[in-house]
Amino acid sequence: MILIIDFGSQYNQLIARRVRECNVYSRIEPPNIEISTIKDLAPKGIILSGGPSSIYENNSPKISNDIFKLGIPILGICYGMQFLINSFGGEVNKTSKREYGFAKLNIKDNECIFKSISENTTCWMSHGDSIENLPIGFEITASTENTGIAAVRNKEHNLYGVQFHPEVEHTPCGKTIIQNFLFDICKCSPNWTMKSFAEDAIAQIKETVKDKQVILALSGGVDSSVTAVLVNKAIGNQLTCIFVDNGLLRKNEAKKIKKILTEHLKINIKFINAKSKFLRPLSKIIDPEKKRKIIGKVFMDVFEAEAKKIKNAEFLAQGTLYPDVIESVSPFGGPSSVIKSHHNVGGLPKNMKLKLIEPLKYLFKDEVRILGTEIGLPDDIVWRHPFPGPGLAIRIIGKVTLKRLKVLREVDFILIEEIRKSGLYRSLWQSFAVLLPLKSVGIMGDHRTYENIAAIRAVTSRDAMTADWARLPHELLNNISNRIINEVSGVNRIVYDISSKPPSTIEWE
Ligand code: XMP
Repeated sequence: MILIIDFGSQYNQLIARRVRECNVYSRIEPPNIEISTIKDLAPKGIILSGGPSSIYENNSPKISNDIFKLGIPILGICYGMQFLINSFGGEVNKTSKREYGFAKLNIKDNECIFKSISENTTCWMSHGDSIENLPIGFEITASTENTGIAAVRNKEHNLYGVQFHPEVEHTPCGKTIIQNFLFDICKCSPNWTMKSFAEDAIAQIKETVKDKQVILALSGGVDSSVTAVLVNKAIGNQLTCIFVDNGLLRKNEAKKIKKILTEHLKINIKFINAKSKFLRPLSKIIDPEKKRKIIGKVFMDVFEAEAKKIKNAEFLAQGTLYPDVIESVSPFGGPSSVIKSHHNVGGLPKNMKLKLIEPLKYLFKDEVRILGTEIGLPDDIVWRHPFPGPGLAIRIIGKVTLKRLKVLREVDFILIEEIRKSGLYRSLWQSFAVLLPLKSVGIMGDHRTYENIAAIRAVTSRDAMTADWARLPHELLNNISNRIINEVSGVNRIVYDISSKPPSTIEWE
């Protein structure tokens, strides 16, 4: 395992991914991690990330110098390298020539992290501080035109530093540098695969749960479904999944999920029809945050009531993912947590006192998909687009009524069917329809119509933090529009959403 110390870089998740792509497990921890915890984790190597701070500022993030006594190889990237140099008595200062973007990298020798890299290559720079004086024991291993000390090493202590960013795609030799560090210097073995992850996770769940009962709120999305299958493989029928039909799901979703998970995967699921419990309090609500609050509260009430019926329930399994739990460091205020407020179940009711099982909490979404396939989930679930907890309620702008739900379901069904047919479904992060609270005039046959407008949204994204509107082919958009207007009564106009996130969000509400 490789430990990544997060000094606040926007690229730290990328470092974790690059390491994992080499089949080596990596984990991101904040700089205030205890040295004893690092010893327990026993990483084969440590990567110190970049960050927005300057090392010479009083409150810049630092990790205890005891880290150097562990004898573990360290690679410092950008701020991480400056921290390394500063800790050993070198000098870091504001540079007169800020370097941002591509730079030609002059490698002084092809050893250690630069093994097998051609002497003339480029790297990606983004820094305003530079190293001015090296401490004793360190030597320069690469430079650029503006940065004399672009890479360093201390062979005796197995310490390495690069001013540029090997983790970004713009550094063509970055992958080789990371591989050299992992395999030549840290002596890692490339044996972290989703198969081994699944075996470990299953063994761990077995050991934790023993003969107790586990509850899981199943939505049918990839995260909760993969969690359910893992827990099911570990403890079988000691797991009870609760699927709450809130009446806000897509057309045929509840039926489809039931078929796949109960018939195909033999998971123990209680299906709760709570449609009216959700729809009644929503009937007059327009404000999106109020909709979310009502849906969240009713969900908790329904879920809790069902969970209480399960005797000896001691654990709650959740499909929390890594980006939701990574602690990021704010440069001036110490570690702060970035947890999405609208994530999944949204926290435990205080009086339930269940212990959490979160087997996916160290995985990224694309890794969860590979894991899902590995443990036998069908593509239909593995590649399903994310669907928000409040469901279609936040895709009907204005009041949520049965009639409007029916219209949106039909629109959405055609949209997804056409996108699947076009072969683009997997390349999109999400695609969906939104029903607007507006009517427009149209003409059908010889008649004037005055009907609803639906918006189509399709985005590409890696993690939903940012997203770009998808450049769907005009022909596809044309088919979608024609089919919807011809087949869904009550809709006479389709618009396509061409806004990205930020400044827009993925959902409209
Ligand atoms: P936004 O609209 O914030 O969405 O760009 C980012 C991702 O989160 C999903 N989303 C939600 N998921 N409850 C959820 O479980 C919610 O209230 C909620 N709001 C947005 C959205 O579909 C996208 O994948």
